Amino acid sequence: MTATRRRRVWRTVRRAQSSVVSASVAEFVRAYTELTPVAAVPEIRLHQAAEPIGLWELTEGEFRSEQPPPFWAFAWAGGQALARYLLDHPETVAGRRVLDLASGSGLVAIAAARAGAARVQAVDTDPTAVAAIGVNARANGVTVAAEQGDILDDTAGDAEVVLAGDVFYSATMANRILRFLLRAARDGGARVLVGDPERAYLPRSRFRRITSYDIPVPPALESVRSKHTTVWELIPTTPGATRPAEGHRAG
Ligand SMILES: C[S@@+](CC[C@H](N)C(=O)[O-])C[C@H]1O[C@@H](n2cnc3c(N)ncnc32)[C@H](O)[C@@H]1O
Repeated sequence: MTATRRRRVWRTVRRAQSSVVSASVAEFVRAYTELTPVAAVPEIRLHQAAEPIGLWELTEGEFRSEQPPPFWAFAWAGGQALARYLLDHPETVAGRRVLDLASGSGLVAIAAARAGAARVQAVDTDPTAVAAIGVNARANGVTVAAEQGDILDDTAGDAEVVLAGDVFYSATMANRILRFLLRAARDGGARVLVGDPERAYLPRSRFRRITSYDIPVPPALESVRSKHTTVWELIPTTPGATRPAEGHRAG
């Protein structure tokens, strides 16, 4: 066999392997979740974990502990608020190119597609989330381009609207996300909206409030039944502008 033919065969085998892997991950998503309406966005149904702890244990077992926790199996309060806002104000994304950063289940991306976005890209570092986004988009009859990767040191490309639901839950994540979002707004000219249920690391002074909702959440995840959640718009800064104080709060 020639080297060229060997390379071609190897490429075909790799492609077949990756489609088997993604098919089995999608199967896992369907098998361990139920397709149910999202509490604050009942127009959208997602494959959600009925019982969070069981699925958490499973991803530590069959899917091994290098796997991140199954964030994709829940509609987080920040994502629910942002999705609610998009469906009630479709002009925010209609006809625009949209990026949903840290998409999880794909809820916000699906809402953007439903609201008439010209193109929706969803990015998450978790491969199972990427499979879940595909499964959930199909269940809601919309098209979302789901990609696995960490683009936080990169740019938002040609996105006109950048969305991020519930991403300010850790200091490291918050710092990297904020820098990415500021670049998207300042260099890319994107409008940036985030949904946040008063997480500790939201840099509030960087944002202006658009609206707030009381969002139902699973008590097993959040220890409460509802979270006051705000849709915020990032205030773009110009290069060299004075930075407002960060204003982190406990929460
Ligand atoms: C709390 S969940 C929010 C999911 C979704 N936006 C929502 O509101 O339901 C946070 C998500 O961020 C993803 N994530 C963590 N670090 C990331 C990174 N560097 N780039 C993209 N996604 C990331 C996780 O895999 C997870 O799906």
